Amino acid sequence: MYPMPVTLLGTLVDGKPDFMTLGWITRVNANPPTIGCGVGRHHHSAVGIEQNKTFSINVPSAEMLQKTDYCGLVSGKSVDKAVLFDVFYGELETAPMITECPLSLECRLETTIENATNNFYIGEIIASYSEERYLSGDLLDIKKINPLLLTMPDNRYWTVGEYAGEAWSIGKTLKMK
Ligand SMILES: Cc1cc2nc3c(=O)[nH]c(=O)nc-3n(C[C@H](O)[C@H](O)[C@H](O)COP(=O)(O)O)c2cc1C
Repeated sequence: MYPMPVTLLGTLVDGKPDFMTLGWITRVNANPPTIGCGVGRHHHSAVGIEQNKTFSINVPSAEMLQKTDYCGLVSGKSVDKAVLFDVFYGELETAPMITECPLSLECRLETTIENATNNFYIGEIIASYSEERYLSGDLLDIKKINPLLLTMPDNRYWTVGEYAGEAWSIGKTLKMK
């Protein structure tokens, strides 16, 4: 995938919140809405998902770059990363989320696919949280969220560029004979 979104995976491990930088993430199904993420089996976060069968996906803004990268450098096994953020919980009660993130998705684990070194966790999004200041009309506005993108293997963060056109629409202007 090129580029990848940059998110923070929230889990509760032994009753304590942990957050891990996560780039291997994708939509899986529209209805019910499900999302999938690849997580190293030996990460602290994987323990939390296995314990509670819940997790959260938080979308940080570019202003959160330093904290976001830090969460991918150290493990919750040795550092309490949750102190970096204002943490809140939703109805699942075991999927910690980050107030400062423009968008948080609360997920219940549905399926686990075991791969060589990673588990691919598929979860149903049971609730999503944002604020009106990130919306235009009743839709999320990517410019207001100002999310981060990731390219590998050069390992760089980017912000979103210019609007290019309407999806499921601009192609209709191509007349083929
Ligand atoms: C930009 C970036 C993206 C990352 N994406 C993933 C990922 O998708 N899956 C994964 O297992 N680890 C990923 N990592 C590594 C974990 O975030 C890192 O190993 C973290 O320390 C694990 O934390 P934990 O032990 O508290 O769960 C990423 C790290 C960075 C810096």
